[in-house]
Amino acid sequence: MAHKKLGSGKLVLGITGGIAAYKAAELVRLLVKANIDVQVVMTEAACQFITPVTMQALSGKPVFIGMWDSSIANGMPHIELSREADAILVAPASADFIAKVVHGQADDLLSTLCLARDCPLLVAPAMNKQMWENPATQRNINQLKADGISILGPASGEQACGEVGLGRMLEAEALLAGVIAHFTPKLLAGKRILITAGATLEMIDPVRAITNLSSGKMGYAIAQAAADMGAEVTLVSGATALAMPSHVKNISATSAQNMYQAVMGNIATQDIFIGVAAVADYSPASPSTQKIKKSKSLLTLELTANKDILAEVASLPNAPFCVGFAAETENLLEYAEAKRQAKKLPLIVANLATNAMGSDDNQVTLLDKNGAHVLPRAPKIEIAKLLLQHVAGMLL
Ligand code: C5P
Repeated sequence: MAHKKLGSGKLVLGITGGIAAYKAAELVRLLVKANIDVQVVMTEAACQFITPVTMQALSGKPVFIGMWDSSIANGMPHIELSREADAILVAPASADFIAKVVHGQADDLLSTLCLARDCPLLVAPAMNKQMWENPATQRNINQLKADGISILGPASGEQACGEVGLGRMLEAEALLAGVIAHFTPKLLAGKRILITAGATLEMIDPVRAITNLSSGKMGYAIAQAAADMGAEVTLVSGATALAMPSHVKNISATSAQNMYQAVMGNIATQDIFIGVAAVADYSPASPSTQKIKKSKSLLTLELTANKDILAEVASLPNAPFCVGFAAETENLLEYAEAKRQAKKLPLIVANLATNAMGSDDNQVTLLDKNGAHVLPRAPKIEIAKLLLQHVAGMLL
């Protein structure tokens, strides 16, 4: 099927009859918050689980249920709604609804919309574990995949029926991530990208360490955005408390030394390297193997300088396109530009350490050979997308 180009962000959210329909309320809230234009379509059975009034209040638009809605100008909601949509997501999708899509049945508005569509269809199955495992459902899922339909989930865990296993609908956040990935132009398709993120931990003794306040949020956001843009992403991650982004290869590296080895061992095949991690500049010269006792009034720690991972990568003979981060507390642009030149980077991201560290938003300036590009203050995921768009533009 020839699909319309994605990008404008109009989503039809289909809700079918299953207890997971209650999660669709939170999903609509998140979609609206992410500036996605949501039109909710419900089956009659879905209305037994959650009311159209709830969905209308959250989406800000009347909900369509029946085929014969006179408010649609041409009287053909299946054509009108599917013509306008950039994607259709059915969440929850019951076993029965999935079977209908497989066979091209169109006996209510939602199934007719799916048949009449000219856009991608995403399906989030939700059903009891036995229904999911039934060979008939598995055959149907394979057929959907063969027809180019994206399957989101299901997840495993406790089910409303009391059983535990595969079949639960993905949580709203995960579905939102799936939709966003679908709406993101694949500017980095075919590119391999390695990202470092988070703080490093330099052991002083078995129970104490030197670290910093980096949360890893910026690096994780870049990894997620790069995966959404079609890149093959490796994330070398120091200490963070964050959930791993989806479709990203994860290598954990605690110390600066571990991070250096993890990066160098994987750099040869990369097209892009983005050093976001706050790598410790120094580590204890000889960490104690036993816990240091509180006996002295003055304790001196001897520190040795760590290798600068970014500078080493940038000076490799076949260096990938390298991007650095400069977190400063003063003279931001001047220090950042000096760093860009010293480390021989095509691009550096300048941010105030006080603005950036730990927060969900950031305000950055991109510095390249053409000068400064100020990005407006925004959530880190938005900054990540703008940064990667800039990188994709420089690579063209
Ligand atoms: O020189 P400074 O540490 O401020 O440079 C910050 C940039 O260098 C960041 O991109 C950081 O990830 C990278 N860096 C590195 N290895 C180090 C120190 C910093 O890759 N040892």
